[in-house]
Amino acid sequence: MNPTPASQAPPDFAQARTLRQKARAAGLDPDRWYAVEYDHAVKAGQVREVVFWGTSIALYRGADGQLAALQNRCPHRQLKLTHGVVEHCRLRCAYHGWAFDRDGWLVDYSHDSFGKPLIKTRLRSYPVQVRYGLIWLFPGNPEAALERALPEIPELGGEAPWAAFTVDFTWRTHHSMVMDNICDFAHAFLHRKYRPFIGAKLTHYEASDDRVYLTYDAYMAGGRISGIFIDRQRVNTRSIELCYEYPYQWTNTGGSIKNWSFLLPIDRCTTRVFFLFYFDALRIPLTSLKTPKWLTQTVLNIAKPLLFKPLLAEDGFALEAEQRGYESHYDAPPIELNPVVPLFQQLTARKWEEYLARTAPAGEAGT
Ligand code: FES
Ligand SMILES: [Fe+2]
Repeated sequence: MNPTPASQAPPDFAQARTLRQKARAAGLDPDRWYAVEYDHAVKAGQVREVVFWGTSIALYRGADGQLAALQNRCPHRQLKLTHGVVEHCRLRCAYHGWAFDRDGWLVDYSHDSFGKPLIKTRLRSYPVQVRYGLIWLFPGNPEAALERALPEIPELGGEAPWAAFTVDFTWRTHHSMVMDNICDFAHAFLHRKYRPFIGAKLTHYEASDDRVYLTYDAYMAGGRISGIFIDRQRVNTRSIELCYEYPYQWTNTGGSIKNWSFLLPIDRCTTRVFFLFYFDALRIPLTSLKTPKWLTQTVLNIAKPLLFKPLLAEDGFALEAEQRGYESHYDAPPIELNPVVPLFQQLTARKWEEYLARTAPAGEAGT
C-alpha cells in the first residue's frame, strides 16, 4: 500500500524541484544493456516476465536453446504473452492461441480465421544476449544495441577465470537509492554485525562524463569469518576503489576482490540488483598459501548464503525503509554529508534528462 495519498505523491521528473527529487524520479537510460535474469533460470520451453521501467517484456527460450524477448501484450485481446506457452521457437498466446516468432511476427492462428488471411502484425522484439551467467536485454532503440558494449570483465574470461558468484535481490526502492547505498561507505553502522568495511574515509573522487570514481581508505572485510580467508599479506585491504560507471557500479579491493552491481529499474519504487562478486584467490586458513580455484569457489559458495546474502539484506532493509521515508517526506530538505552522493544523483538525473531530450518530440519534456 502506498502510504502517501496520490495527490501528495513524490513529484515526477518534470516537477521535481531538488536534485534528490530529480534523482528519485529518474529512470535509467533504456539505450544500455541490462541484466534481467540468470541464464539458468529460463530453460528451453519456458517464458518469464521481465519488467523494465514499467514496460513488461516476455523473455523466453525456444526448443533450440535460443532466447528471445517480445513485447508482453498480445495484439488480439491484450493478454500478457507470459500466460502463454513456448512451442518450438514461437510464443503462443494462452487465449486464442495466436503464435509469434522471435522477431515478433504473428505467424499462426490456432483457430479458423473466418476466411481472412493472416494479419500482418508484429510485436516489438528486444535484443538479448548471455554473458557472465546472466541474460542481458536492450530495452531501448535496437539499432543502438550494436554500439553499446556490456561491461568488460576480463577476470571472468581467458584461461584462468576467477572464482565468482552472483546474488540478487528485488527491493522496493528506487534505483538511485541503491546507487547511493553501494557507493557511500558512511553506513558501516548498519553492518556492525558483518563489518564489511570499517572506519571508511573518503580519499579521492572525480566525476566525468558517464562516471563517478572514488576511493576510500577503510579496513575491508573486517568480519571474523571473512578475515580468516582474506590474505592481508598479499592483498591491500586498507583501501577500496569504486565507480558508478553509468548505469553500472564496480568495486576493487587490492586488485584481488572485485564486484559489479547491475541494477534493473523495474519501476519508480522497485529495483532488482544483481551483485556479481569475483575473487582471484583466498588464503588457506593459518597459512600464507593461496587457495586453488576450486577451493576459492567452494568457500564462496558457502559464504554466499551465510555472509553475502544476509549482509546485503541489511542494505535491502535500509533501502526499503528509505523509500517509505522518501514517499512520506519527499519535501524534507536534503541533508547530505558525503560530497560524492550529490555527484551520483547528478549523473543519474543528467543521463535521464539526456535520454528524454533524445527521445521526446521537439518542444516536449518527458517524465
Ligand atoms: S488474446 Fe491472444 S490470441 Fe486472443
Ligand atoms: Fe551496505
